[in-house]
Amino acid sequence: MKMILDERGKKYILKPGAEFQSDLGIVKADVLDNAQIGDEVKSHLDHSFKIVKPNVNDFIRVVDAGTGAGAIALHFGNVVGLQGKVFTYEIREDFAEVAHRNIDNFGITNIEVKNKNIKEGIDENNIDLIFLDLPKPFEIFEEVMESLNVGGWLAVYAPYIDQAETSYRVAKKLGFYDIEIIETLERGLEVRTQGVRPKTRMVGHSGYLLFARKL
Ligand SMILES: C[S@@+](CC[C@H](N)C(=O)[O-])C[C@H]1O[C@@H](n2cnc3c(N)ncnc32)[C@H](O)[C@@H]1O
Repeated sequence: MKMILDERGKKYILKPGAEFQSDLGIVKADVLDNAQIGDEVKSHLDHSFKIVKPNVNDFIRVVDAGTGAGAIALHFGNVVGLQGKVFTYEIREDFAEVAHRNIDNFGITNIEVKNKNIKEGIDENNIDLIFLDLPKPFEIFEEVMESLNVGGWLAVYAPYIDQAETSYRVAKKLGFYDIEIIETLERGLEVRTQGVRPKTRMVGHSGYLLFARKL
């Protein structure tokens, strides 16, 4: 089954051998069957659709840096399942060893810890997600673009607005799509006899998350 994206960024999974119909028009089955990843096909109404995944059953491959203690790498390892793969880069040997131990303790086998400076190059290609949690992540966005699959995501965690902003500007200049930055604030509500109001204490800041897509 192929996955395609329309001009609005909406995703569709196609039935093999069937024509595709949407409000943006019809694309014939033989056109879709012969299209490769990255190709653009047109509907009879002249709208474009891009083939972003040749086979949605493909296994998900993630690159993560830096590893730190391995918390987010463990999360990704859990999400992608045994047939997916996570490559996590850590510049410090002592941290890489700690992460190794933590990952082994959880019994997760699909994570490869690499004691390597990711700024010297990303070894892997055909990656679906690259997550960066390190200083000046934007310095490697060009390499990120090369390593990602079409339709793949770049995600950045930045503790400061300035880093998130520079990441946004660099990603835009390099031609990433769907770029957004979010901050999550958590404010609980308390229900009192007199009424309902926000709790006095809240999680006021954790960090900024930037997401961007290669199309
Ligand atoms: C904030 S911690 C990451 C925490 C981690 N994401 C987790 O979930 O536990 C940042 C890590 O990036 C590593 N680091 C910094 N620059 C790096 C680089 N160029 N390549 C690889 N790792 C790097 C640091 O040694 C540090 O362990």
